[in-house]
Amino acid sequence: MNQATALAHPNIAFIKYWGDKDPDLRIPMNGSLSMNLDCLYSRTAVEFDPGLKSDQLTIGGRVPPEIAVQRVNRFLDQVRHLAGFHTFAKVTSENNFPTGSGIASSASGFAALSLAASTAAGLDLDQRELSRLARLGSGSACRSIPGGFVEWLPGGDDESSYAISIAAHDHWDLHDCIAVVSREHKQTGSAAGHVLAASSPLQKSRVTDTGRRIDFCRNAILYRDFQAFAEIVELDSNLMHAVMMTSQPQLYYWQPATLDVMQCVIEWRAGGFPVCFTIDAGPNVHVITTGDNSAAVMEKLNQIPGVLEVLLGQPGREARLIDQETGGK
Ligand code: DP6
Repeated sequence: MNQATALAHPNIAFIKYWGDKDPDLRIPMNGSLSMNLDCLYSRTAVEFDPGLKSDQLTIGGRVPPEIAVQRVNRFLDQVRHLAGFHTFAKVTSENNFPTGSGIASSASGFAALSLAASTAAGLDLDQRELSRLARLGSGSACRSIPGGFVEWLPGGDDESSYAISIAAHDHWDLHDCIAVVSREHKQTGSAAGHVLAASSPLQKSRVTDTGRRIDFCRNAILYRDFQAFAEIVELDSNLMHAVMMTSQPQLYYWQPATLDVMQCVIEWRAGGFPVCFTIDAGPNVHVITTGDNSAAVMEKLNQIPGVLEVLLGQPGREARLIDQETGGK
């Protein structure tokens, strides 16, 4: 086989990855915890073709900016190295959600690419090996390989840094109502942001305290304790954004509507609604709630001025191969 198609979901981090010990291998400063997001996906087809003179990449039918092309070329070099051949590939990828605005398209993109490219190259990687491979493309992509609720064990080198599932997708019906307040491509991508993390005087204490937050959040997930979960998820998001805002140069991902949504969420929870927020490297707000409340939360979010649309993500399964013809999920 020299071709394969794979589907992977983005993930939302409840305990965030921010800053690398080794930027080339993407060994993170701290462990992280996330949930895959069903409904949203990247679908990627890879075909190694001896007739090609270079790799060819399209995302959503277009050739992406040169920087994205180079990142995929470098990633494919690693797959070729593992497989022991030099053939170039045609890569066709699609996302069913806006890219580059705080919804992790690089995570689902590189997870789907890892599975499709390694399969097309004839490599038979197990889930841990796939997670390690995906990590080389984008750190958070290693968390989109296993299913459901996922922990990235930070490790200290290439062998020991990978993600595992801590609970299956049907363990807890948490929904992520994503309040989109901007569809613009962000100015500073997370790769550049990770480099700046160490320049914040707050990064050291954020990293030192991560083990405690991971244990607290993992338990809240395993015991389905929403109140405890909400507390730690908002704290972790705020800690990461405090690091971003105090980096040199400073990084502000929030927009006025971001803060409006955060304030509403805090009010709703104070009024007894099970809801909390978390924000990645972009202005959009991931509002987490339980399945029975998500329709009401989406309706409330849609009424906030500045919210352009609300996307819904439910707990998603692992990255998987799909039939290219039917594209079936
Ligand atoms: C804020 O995995 O996107 O979303 O490895 O450079 O692709 P690269 O970074 P990326 O960083 C994710 C940052 C985050 C937090 C998280 O998802 O844990």
